[in-house]
Parts: sequence; structure tokens; C-alpha cells
Amino acid sequence: MNITYLRENNSFKLDTDNTSYVIGIVDKEGFIGHAYYGARIPNEDVAYLMRINENPLVPSLNERDRSSFLDTFPTEFSGNNVGDYRESSIKIRDKNGASGIQLLYRAYRIIKGKPKIKGLPETFSDEANAMTLEIYVEDANLGIEGTLSYSVFNNSDAITRSIRIKNVSDDTIYLDKIMSMCLDMDDDNYRMLVLHGSWARERHIEYRKIGYGKQSVSSIRGESSHQEHPFIALVGENTTQAYGDVYGFNFVYSGNFIGQVEKNQFNSLRVVMGIHPEYFAFKLVPGDEFYAPEVVMVYTNQGLGHMTRTYHDLYRNHLMRSSFLRKSRPVLINNWEATYFDFDNEKLLDIAKTAKECGIEMLVMDDGWFGNRNDDNSSLGDWWVNETKIKGGLKKLVDDVNEIGLKFGIWFEPEMISPDSRLYRQHPDWAIAIPGRIPCRSRNQYVLDITRKEVRDYVYNCLATILKSANIDYVKWDMNRQLTDISSARLEADRQGELMHRYVLALYEMQERLIAEFPNLLLENCSGGGARFDPGMLYYSPQIWCSDNTDAIERLSIQGGTALIYPLSTMGAHVSVCPNHTVGRVTPFETRGNVALAGTFGYELDVTKLSKEEKEAIPKQIATYKKFNKLIREGDYYRLASYRENNYYDCYQVVSKDKSEALITFVQVLSQPNMHSIKIKLQGLDDNKIYKISGSEESHYGETLKNAGLLIERLNGDFQSKLIHLTEQ
Ligand code: GLA
Repeated sequence: MNITYLRENNSFKLDTDNTSYVIGIVDKEGFIGHAYYGARIPNEDVAYLMRINENPLVPSLNERDRSSFLDTFPTEFSGNNVGDYRESSIKIRDKNGASGIQLLYRAYRIIKGKPKIKGLPETFSDEANAMTLEIYVEDANLGIEGTLSYSVFNNSDAITRSIRIKNVSDDTIYLDKIMSMCLDMDDDNYRMLVLHGSWARERHIEYRKIGYGKQSVSSIRGESSHQEHPFIALVGENTTQAYGDVYGFNFVYSGNFIGQVEKNQFNSLRVVMGIHPEYFAFKLVPGDEFYAPEVVMVYTNQGLGHMTRTYHDLYRNHLMRSSFLRKSRPVLINNWEATYFDFDNEKLLDIAKTAKECGIEMLVMDDGWFGNRNDDNSSLGDWWVNETKIKGGLKKLVDDVNEIGLKFGIWFEPEMISPDSRLYRQHPDWAIAIPGRIPCRSRNQYVLDITRKEVRDYVYNCLATILKSANIDYVKWDMNRQLTDISSARLEADRQGELMHRYVLALYEMQERLIAEFPNLLLENCSGGGARFDPGMLYYSPQIWCSDNTDAIERLSIQGGTALIYPLSTMGAHVSVCPNHTVGRVTPFETRGNVALAGTFGYELDVTKLSKEEKEAIPKQIATYKKFNKLIREGDYYRLASYRENNYYDCYQVVSKDKSEALITFVQVLSQPNMHSIKIKLQGLDDNKIYKISGSEESHYGETLKNAGLLIERLNGDFQSKLIHLTEQ
């Protein structure tokens, strides 16, 4: 990694191991231009790539047609209402109600390490392993100063970007829009890869053709959402997992977002990513600063797989802080699909006893243990244990479970309030609602206005009190509805546009408080399955429930899309019963185990009701989990085949960092008649090492397995699967 200021041509060059990013300062006015982002190049002048010499359009030479310059100039951060008609990156309303901003260059600083982004999750580093370029910008007319930040990391091809803005004028202004990044580049026939979905169908990979105009992914739901994901990749025409160009953009934020690609009249692309401007307007009084969340960019010409592994390593080394990141998590059993709301301490203890016999290590008590909650119509906010169900209280239950030999975990939904709750009867104004309008219910619940300190203190204290009352090792923090009726009883009229961002900041503050006060707690985030699976949440919790869909086959798509960016060790994955509760599919117990192995691994079923064979299979599955968990948690992930593309089988591989072993998971989704064995070309092995292949007498060079491939015998039947372990001989 390196960041250089090239004085002769007034430009900045950021280098990662394999990529370069060049920013040029243009014209005496100080336009900040984007010259280059791609494979690594030497330190020489590439300002010509900004094409400023093609026409005499530079404003200082020809003011007559200023917009011809601004509307084509590849900029680092587009202005608004000043001549660039492409997407703006910032919009500020001044005291007269006018908006017009152009941030121009003032100065720079190159520093070791990476300064903090106040109140937000972010990648971090010590001084030895990262460098940051800060470009100081201003709009002198408005009295706005800003800092464009770029960081590079040792041994990584990622570059992070963010911006902060300060009102240095004497007047109040309103920040109506702020993107965290803007990147202008030539279109090279890229396709746009996005992750789309729905409840129980999160993060499916979709390719889109890029046409003229704007195409985007976004959420205005108050969370990153089931439906679209704060991620875009621009993928070359012939790019595969192993070869070709990819530009990835991932937003480190858990609320409203937009990621947009715009193809203009000159076939150039503008990519922007940031907080969604809908519902957003932040008041900045003189002296106020606003920190925008960061975007993690990855460029590679080595295919999607290299992008994936770059994100995995960056997030494992520079984003996730939990001490559990590098530990094997306890194998848990969660009672949600086992009992839903219908449980009591006896039922839970029965599950715990049988679970213990099978080698399971932790019982997680899901929704339904508090207030008067026997279905999803009541009690959110009433965080005291329901002693009709949990006779003798929570401490007794936890002690009993510990006595059996299991750890104990518990479910909360801290941000919510049921209209039918004691809390709502006492504090109806704590729910987010527009005065005079009955708020929209979803799952028969409202959202708490956690931007109010007294509200977040109340819920936080409820949670902390419960955690201190018994020996609790794990919390599942759920969030089961999206935001509507955006209005806070406490914000002044001209600050209502701050609510959705303040909500996310409040959530971060609460989780920060939780992990600081309970450093040994294992925290799993969740949102109706995987609607808040994003890098922001990974800053607080080392794992996130990936989806309410536990069907092994659907999980191949969900986990395949999720693992495109996020490490396998972050994906909550459980073995559940069949027919599967969401899709009704019947898959072998073994396949359910093999697929869950690619995540945090656990069970979500009534273990007392399993057949003898299934019960006997659990200790074997747990032994497999223990055997491979370190490899899966720390290794390099290669997606070898996807049944969504071949309609036949799925295959992925994890290779240890020292390349001494690898695990291949093969799932034959649809059995095909009269076919021979399947040849899979492996990736990531050491060419010169000889690998022994489990389940056979064969050994082969890594180079042979890469170029010639491994034969995997056809399995008999749909949904069959197989694990193959390669060990260095
Ligand atoms: C959400 C979660 C589930 C479960 C239920 C409980 O849907 O994703 O795992 O906890 O809530 O209501």
C-alpha cells in the first residue's frame, strides 16, 4: 500500500497491492478530478485520462460554456445545480432556500493509519497497516468545508472512502443529500451485479444490463433490507469467478441507502453510493459537522472470487471487532422452529437434555418468554419474564440449563413496541408516528423512537437488567418490521428529516454500549431473518442470522449471495426439520448439516422429536463442524459452481491460508439421468503440493486439480451432498 502526492502534475496516487487510484487537481479553480481506477500502474502522469485537453472547455480558459466542462469532467465528488447534470453527490439548502454547491480543492494531508468516523461503524487499522489521504475541500460561497477521505490497507486491494462536512458559515444550512462516494469511469460494457431478495429469499445474485440513464439499488425502509442490498459490482462482459474485471462497492451502513450507476451521453458511468436522500435533511447550525458512512471499494482483474476474498479478509482484519471472530462458536439449538410461542420451562429443559446428549452446547430461548407474549400481537417493550411459562423465573431456568451442561442464550427485539403492551399504555408517544395519523402496523407492532435518549435508556436498561440477572452467554437482537410514519415527537419541525439517520446512529450507540458492558457476550443480529445483514452490523456482532429460510437448497442461493461479500463465519445457519417450514421441501439430514456448516452452525428444531437415526447423526455433524470450523472461519472461499447457473449442482471450496488443506462442499440439487461423474476444476491450491483426497485412494498435485480437475461421482437422488477433504501429503 502507498499514497503519493505527485507534485509535478498535482495529483494523488493510491496504490494497493494490485490496484491504483489516481486523483488529479485541475485548473486554478481546484476541480478535483478522477483520472484512473484499475490495475496497478507506475507513478507517472495519467492526468490525460481526465480528457481536459480535448476541448478548450476548462473554465479558466473558456467560461463561455462552463457546463460542457462540468457535465463531462470525471469528478471525485459531484456538485449540485452548477452545471453537472449527472447525479449530484451533495445538496445543501442555504438560508435563502437556494441550493448550489461545488466543493473545490483547498489542501491535503497524507497520514498513517485511519482516523475515526464519529458515531459510525467503519474499517479500522493501526498506523502500520493503513494510510489515509484527506483532501480538504470547500465551497467558499456557502461557507462549507469538507474532507474527502481515502484509505488503503496493507495486503489488501480494498480502498475505503467517506466524507465529512462542516458548516463554517454564520448561517444555518440544511444538508438535503450526501453521498459517500462518487466515481466516474468509462463504460467498458460492464454488467451490474446486485443482490436482491425478499423475506426468506435474501441476497440472490442478479445481473443487470447497464442501459443509458440511471439504475439503482436502494432501501428507504430504515434498514438495509431483505429486498435490495447496499452493494453493487460492475462486472466485465466475460468476467467469471476466476478471471476478469470487477469493481465492487459496499456501503458500511444499516439504514436507508442508494447505490446508483448512471450511463451518460458519452458512455461514461457515474457510480454513487450513500444515504438515501428520501426522508433525509440534516440541519447544520454554524460549527456543526456531518460524518457520512464509508464505502468499501474493491477493484480486481482476477474475477469475482478475488473480490470476494478481498472483502472477506478486510472485514475479518479491519471491520469486525468481536473476540468471537477468531473462535469456534458454541453449537446452539434455537427453539423458534421447534416451538414457536408455545413453550415453557419444562419443554425447554427437555430440549436441553436431549440436545446435551447429542453434543449441542447452548440453548437459545427465542421469542415468547416475556410479558404476555403468546403470539406476535403483544408485549414488545415489556421485557420481564413471563413466569407462567418460565416457572420460577429466568435465573432458575438458566441455572437448570447450565446444570444440564449447556450455555444459555436469549432473544430480544429492543427497538419495537406492541400497541398491546404495558409500555405502550404508559408511553404511547414513544412510538414513531406522525401526529394525527394512525401509524402503519406491521406484524402488529410499532417502532420505538430510539433517537430519544430516555427511550433508548429504558430499553437498554431492560436488556442489561435481564442479562445481569442470570448467566446469559448469547443475545439474538432482532428487528421485525421496517420503518414508516417517519416523525419524532421530540425533533423540531426542521429536524424531522434527521430521524432515519439518527435512528441508525441510536441503534449503533445501543449496540456499542451492549458490547462494551458485556464484552464476553456473543451477539447475533437479526431482522426478520437477514434484512439487516450488512457491514455496519458486523462492526458490532460477529454473526448475523442469514435468513428465516432454513431449507438447505434455498440456502445455497442465500448463502452464495451473502458470501459474495461477507465471511462464512458471519452467516447464521441452522439445521431444521423437514418438510421445511418455509418451502415444504424434504432434504436429507446430512445435506442440511453440510450446508449449515458453511455458516455459524446450529440447530433449530425440536430435538426430542427427531428419529433415532437423526439424533445419532447430530454428534457426527458436530464432530465435522469442530473438525472444519477453523478452516471455514479463517480460510479462503472459492465459489466453484452454482446450481442457479447450471440447474444441476452447487460446489464451493474453502482453502486454508497456508494451502495445506481444503474442504469442498458438493450438493447435487437435481439428479440427472444417465450422466457420468462431474469434473470440477479446483482453485486456490498450491500448484506444487500433492493433496490426498478424502474418501478415495487418490492424491494429485494442486496444479492437476486446478487445470485437469477432480472427478466427483454422481450421487443417487435429489438434494444429496458430499464433503471432500483435501490434505497436503
Ligand atoms: C424473526 C427471526 C426469527 C425469530 C422470529 C421470532 O422472524 O428472524 O428467527 O426469532 O423473528 O419472532
